[in-house]
Amino acid sequence: MSNPLAPPWLVVPDDANALPASVWSLNTRRGDDGEVTIAGVPVSAIAEEFGTPVYVMDEADVRARAARIRGAFDRELARVGSTAKVYYAGKAFLSTEVARWVSQEGLNIDVASGGELAVALAAGVDPGRLGMHGNNKSQRELDRAIGAGIGAVVIDSWGEIEQVARTAERLDRVQSVRLRINSGVHASTHEYLATAREDQKFGVPLADAPAHVERIRSFDALEFAGLHSHIGSQIFDSDGFAEAARRLFELHARLLAGGPVPELNLGGGFGIAYTTADDPLAIDELAARFADIVAEGAQEAGVPVPVIAVEPGRSIVGPSTTTVYTVGTIKDVLVDGAATRKYVSVDGGMSDNIRTALYKADYSARLLNRASDAAPALIRVAGKHCESGDIVVDSDYVPGDVRSGDLLGVPATGAYGWAMGSNYNYLPRPPVVAVRDGAARVIVRGETEDDLLRRDAGL
Ligand code: LLP
Repeated sequence: MSNPLAPPWLVVPDDANALPASVWSLNTRRGDDGEVTIAGVPVSAIAEEFGTPVYVMDEADVRARAARIRGAFDRELARVGSTAKVYYAGKAFLSTEVARWVSQEGLNIDVASGGELAVALAAGVDPGRLGMHGNNKSQRELDRAIGAGIGAVVIDSWGEIEQVARTAERLDRVQSVRLRINSGVHASTHEYLATAREDQKFGVPLADAPAHVERIRSFDALEFAGLHSHIGSQIFDSDGFAEAARRLFELHARLLAGGPVPELNLGGGFGIAYTTADDPLAIDELAARFADIVAEGAQEAGVPVPVIAVEPGRSIVGPSTTTVYTVGTIKDVLVDGAATRKYVSVDGGMSDNIRTALYKADYSARLLNRASDAAPALIRVAGKHCESGDIVVDSDYVPGDVRSGDLLGVPATGAYGWAMGSNYNYLPRPPVVAVRDGAARVIVRGETEDDLLRRDAGL
């Protein structure tokens, strides 16, 4: 029976043991014994070997999504007479292993700081296949990026044009640059909003772009590669991209009068399913719409379709990862004297997944170590931090006999989970474990309390 405290979108599952394919990674299965395996590795074995909480990343899932996105954009842009460049947005999750996986699948990588750049370079990724973002890059970051031979720097302000030019001159390079445009279009999951100028820190207004490009072209050490726009994240349809592309295309065509404009970068932000209520556009359909949008824009402006670059992060790594927690305390809390919400506390929380507290993001949960026929109960998965807002999963139904010691899984935590983690309350950050073909290995070590104490200069 549904619980009146449940959000309207959440339906009582017919089977609270089921693992809907839209939300769980490709190789997640519940076996006949009731236990869940990921890429052939039982979660109880992972928990025993690596402890909990632990991020379990399905390597084949990451690779498959990277290959599929690349294939879809390659195919669709070829259909309209152009080519695609797919960058993986490393901010979603970056480690040297993941950098190698996506590179092997043919993707370029976007970095947004010196730290992300260091990871990509340490992974041995060809610097020419990297792009660098940031609204406030330091001189040190620019020196490192340009010195390493980075493929493109995304210029985000007037002052940065000269700074990048002087840096490139000093390092004896000609640096390819894009110009980030604030298109006035901001999209989120279910709607998009277009204003003359969006009130945010990134990019330069459309109207100011021609002067910026003229200045870029005035420096011999800079090579203008094209315009860039990123309209938001966790986007489910193509309307916002179409509006941004329409606005950028007019400008793109005008800029061609002053010199080459080989590329148009439409950013990332492709949405994924965190719960069964989420229904993002399939990537093949999205790529087809992108191609149609730019083909139409090019035709209207009477110019060739440029190389189209995109920068997905979440849609490549998000669905691959399940966070595995051990259940601790359970409390049935009577709310307004009317209904009971079961608070299931786990051994992690907002330090390994801040998205629920920060964005009111929705997630799902399932028992992993066993199946159960008990009637589904509405639960809220709480962390162990000293904050009432420390919630990992606001609402889901799991078998009502959930008990202390069970392993609880939260799927789709691969993007912006580990990446936005913290040591709040001095919790050591959990390891990231990759699973593939029945084997598990650590790709980012977990921290220990000793690691944390080592940074305490008072010792
Ligand atoms: N390109 C640019 C310029 C970006 O700023 C971003 C994300 C991306 C690409 C990749 O977007 P994605 O495909 O991953 O949605 N922490 C938030 C998301 C922040 C996204 C920031 N920029 C979250 O957890 O939802």
